[in-house]
Amino acid sequence: MPNPFEKLLKWNPRTVFAKKRVLGIDIGASAIKVIELEKDGGGRALLKNYGELALGPYSPEGVVGQATNLSLEKISQALQDVFHETGIIPHAGAIAFPLGPSFLLVIELPNADRRQVETMIPFEARKYIPVPAAEVQLGWQIIPEKSSALAAANAPDQKEKKIEVLLAAVHNDTIAKYKEIAKRVGLENASYEIEVFSAIRSVIGRDTSPLMILDMGAATTKLAMVEWGIIHSSHIINMGSQDITNALSTGLSIPKGEAEQAKRDYGLAGMPNDPHFAEAITLPLGQIFSDASRVLSNYERRYNKKTSKVILTGGGVMLKGLLEFAQKNFDTDVVMGNPFERVETPAFMETTLKDAGPEFAVAIGLGLKALQEG
Ligand SMILES: Nc1ncnc2c1ncn2[C@@H]1O[C@H](COP(=O)(O)OP(=O)(O)OP(=O)(O)O)[C@@H](O)[C@H]1O
Ligand SMILES: [Mg+2]
Repeated sequence: MPNPFEKLLKWNPRTVFAKKRVLGIDIGASAIKVIELEKDGGGRALLKNYGELALGPYSPEGVVGQATNLSLEKISQALQDVFHETGIIPHAGAIAFPLGPSFLLVIELPNADRRQVETMIPFEARKYIPVPAAEVQLGWQIIPEKSSALAAANAPDQKEKKIEVLLAAVHNDTIAKYKEIAKRVGLENASYEIEVFSAIRSVIGRDTSPLMILDMGAATTKLAMVEWGIIHSSHIINMGSQDITNALSTGLSIPKGEAEQAKRDYGLAGMPNDPHFAEAITLPLGQIFSDASRVLSNYERRYNKKTSKVILTGGGVMLKGLLEFAQKNFDTDVVMGNPFERVETPAFMETTLKDAGPEFAVAIGLGLKALQEG
């Protein structure tokens, strides 16, 4: 008879209570966002810690909210400062590659069996990625037909059918830079992905409908058209929240640091007794949203689809009154991304986190990736 206590005898408290802790690290152009998650016994992701640090003060200009272009030494220093401030001890985790220097595009290929397609992809990719194949790491994903934006336009004849493939390529120099940062801060076996993939994981959930993610950072606004959780196209608008600060600084003749604070304090409600304030904000914001609207309607027209919603992420969308402004701008629903919904948060943090939500979309998505991998 098997020993009924065998399991108990082999019981090892370390395996039962072994908790996995991971970090999600988003090194943005203007700020670093870090979150720490722990997987509990029930497989849920618990938020243990989070922190944010403006990178402006590490650059010669020194202004919070502005994009920087820091050396890897400075970035590593800043990341160590975040760990120090938050009391996080670096261990396993995931880091995002920025979309800017990455290549992300959807190509069309003739319909063939999967193996043939997979041999074709690296050759085809060379035609579209403007750097030598040896200089990048290439990844791809064949877009399943049900989610293919082409599905509606596809010919019924199997032979003439086209398939879509999402290509992602990151330059070896970028990979080496982020690996070196991970090494310097003591992050072992970090994993990496392009930032949009992280945002998708944290803000979309099970939504399969066609939608747009709009990430307003400091110098750029990144757009991704997503369906069934798969990217169908991505775009970068070369304007972001720092353009609002700069417009305020010029329009009101105040230093950038002051303009940054005023932007955060008053937003679109404007400064009392100053009619030019809201105007200075509306101009760059209007330009960003009209570019985004154009991308969205081109997509809808091209594929004959209706987008169900626009999800806002990034620090720039936290501007007071921006949600209402965006809702007037788009013909579709607009919502704030709330990545903290995907994790269990301590009750006392809930209000703070709801407001900080959009800017942690990438970091939370990375944390979830790191948890899934372990
Ligand atoms: N409460 C707020 N109100 C208005 N703007 C804000 C607020 N908080 C942050 N911002 C703005 O958001 C921008 C930073 O957003 P975010 O942290 O998402 O950018 P980033 O990740 O550093 O940049 P990128 O994604 O382009 O690399 C800054 O320009 C900052 O001024
Ligand atoms: Mg960002």
